[in-house]
Amino acid sequence: MYLGVDYYPEHWPKAFIDSDLDRIVKMNGNMIRIGEFAWHLMEQKEGDFDFSFFDHVIEKAKKRGIAVMFGTPTATFPAWLATKYPDILSEDNRQTKRGFGGRRQYCYNSDVYNTYAKRITRALVAHYQHEPAVVAWQIDNEFGHEGSDYCYCQQCEKAFRVYLKDTYKTIDALNEAYGTIFWGQTYNTFDEIPLPKPTITVHNPSLRLDHDRFRSESLYRFAKGQIDEVRLHKGDHQEVTHNFSGGFFEKAYDQSRIAKELDFVSYDNYPVWGGLKEPLSPAEIAMTLSYARGLKGDHQFWIVEQLMGAQGHDVIGYLPRPNQAKLWAYQAFAQGCQNMLFFRYRGMDKGAEQFCYGIIDQDNEETRKYREVQAFFSDIKAHEEALKDPLRSDVAVVYDYDNIRSWSIQTQSLTMSFNNEVVRVFEPFHSRQVPVDVIPSDRSFDGYKVIVFPVMQILDQGLVSRIEAFVQGGGQVLFTFRTGLKDRNNNIHFGCKQPGLVSHLVGAVVSEIESLQEPVDLCADGMPCGQGHVFRELLSLTTAKGHVTYADEPFKAYYAFTENQVGQGHVFYLGTGGDKVIMGDVAERMLKKADIPYEMPNKGIERVKRGALTFEMNHDTYAVRITQKR
Ligand code: GAL
Repeated sequence: MYLGVDYYPEHWPKAFIDSDLDRIVKMNGNMIRIGEFAWHLMEQKEGDFDFSFFDHVIEKAKKRGIAVMFGTPTATFPAWLATKYPDILSEDNRQTKRGFGGRRQYCYNSDVYNTYAKRITRALVAHYQHEPAVVAWQIDNEFGHEGSDYCYCQQCEKAFRVYLKDTYKTIDALNEAYGTIFWGQTYNTFDEIPLPKPTITVHNPSLRLDHDRFRSESLYRFAKGQIDEVRLHKGDHQEVTHNFSGGFFEKAYDQSRIAKELDFVSYDNYPVWGGLKEPLSPAEIAMTLSYARGLKGDHQFWIVEQLMGAQGHDVIGYLPRPNQAKLWAYQAFAQGCQNMLFFRYRGMDKGAEQFCYGIIDQDNEETRKYREVQAFFSDIKAHEEALKDPLRSDVAVVYDYDNIRSWSIQTQSLTMSFNNEVVRVFEPFHSRQVPVDVIPSDRSFDGYKVIVFPVMQILDQGLVSRIEAFVQGGGQVLFTFRTGLKDRNNNIHFGCKQPGLVSHLVGAVVSEIESLQEPVDLCADGMPCGQGHVFRELLSLTTAKGHVTYADEPFKAYYAFTENQVGQGHVFYLGTGGDKVIMGDVAERMLKKADIPYEMPNKGIERVKRGALTFEMNHDTYAVRITQKR
């Protein structure tokens, strides 16, 4: 098991290296991640490669038995490169070039950047290919983070048109798919098609979805180019990873596609960041960890940045309470983490991240946080064997890149957030101590008993057939509001009632809809039973039975929650964003049908079984005694 820190030796006098590494060893660490922002140090002048500083660091690490994850440095490029080729800088949607000075401001479609990025990566990886201490390569740093998923420069415009031509072949096919007859937007040639820059009111939704697919494609191509370069020059003992950031559902790229190219997935786990007053809830954190666990399909992941101190650039918020960041580290292992590095070894006194507090602060003393990490490493290491067992789940929540982007393009309700809708369906299982996988829609459904498809408004026949086979075979499925509304062009299905392609499975149809800014009351057997948020669909039954109706006068006759038997399984449909009471009821009905044991929610306590280990975690601020027999 690798345990360690993100270490930036180049930020400090060289004389610190020995004592820093000694402290890392004393803290029970055995790995450092280095180098991911140090391109200038490796190539001060064009073509002048010099890795001597890192040779020196690695030699010292090696003497102490510390392994190295090396980050390829392409997330920040040298000033000389930006000065020589300003076109490598990306542009925002108002055509303003992003300035040199921050990070991640390169354009994925810049040939020049691709060339230089591959060159430094090649030189670096070839230099360390025989180095036994370097056991892993991290590609770049947090693709798509901080707005770097979008660029509207001319290179991107050109590449977008080529992408569209490759996709549609003829302009007529594109016009037909987009419905450009609307507002007279019919194109004569691909060269007329704009990037969706600011305009009056909004761009065509099919064009916007294609643009997000194009962003994903651009990022994938850049990443794949880097990964291939590393694979070509690395040693056999070295593996390849990338550190995905949080906030994944807001990013315009399909992370699971890149994950497939990696030897293992890494995730940067920050339960609180920037000015947040409070950390994410335990269920939200667990959801992000489950997402990381599901990215590649191997039920595991590393964390290469685990928060210890408060973090932020110009603004910081909540300070993790004593032992709270340590609890989050345990939670990560409970949810499938295999190896962990904390961000960062020591807080920096200069530069943009002065307020990203690490294990050691700028006073350079070993205080509470150091001792917490030291104790955590020693404890978790003792369970190394048991932690080789991946976490297995009977329940999955499924997402789909097109669908996420479609929701981001047209949120439909002022209260809609895709992330919240995933948490809404994840939480009732999590709080009942039932582990949940969060997986992309192209992953096999085999082995699951319950699958939830939150707000899956884009559905195609291929996916529907797989869902149908799953239910016929005895699976339990839940759909939530807006399911089956749209096709893959982001257009509404014509000539049928929603939920369109799955109406026969749901056994109910949507008669009318309303987007909600205030919750509405729901009833079961004439009694109040909870509330619906964000959206509501007025469901009329065909073959399903109804469990819950709306409570307000004109809509009392319509259902909000239904259940339909299909083959050996059941399809549940919830036409609104259920509150905790409703969601609990939905989850329990499904768990019972699937014969999955669960517990009643116990506020603050998270219990996860991983192989032979049981993690009991108290997320509350007061002590509790665990009394249940295991
Ligand atoms: C991460 C990033 C690190 C550092 C950290 C600060 O998103 O990968 O380089 O910026 O945040 O909290």
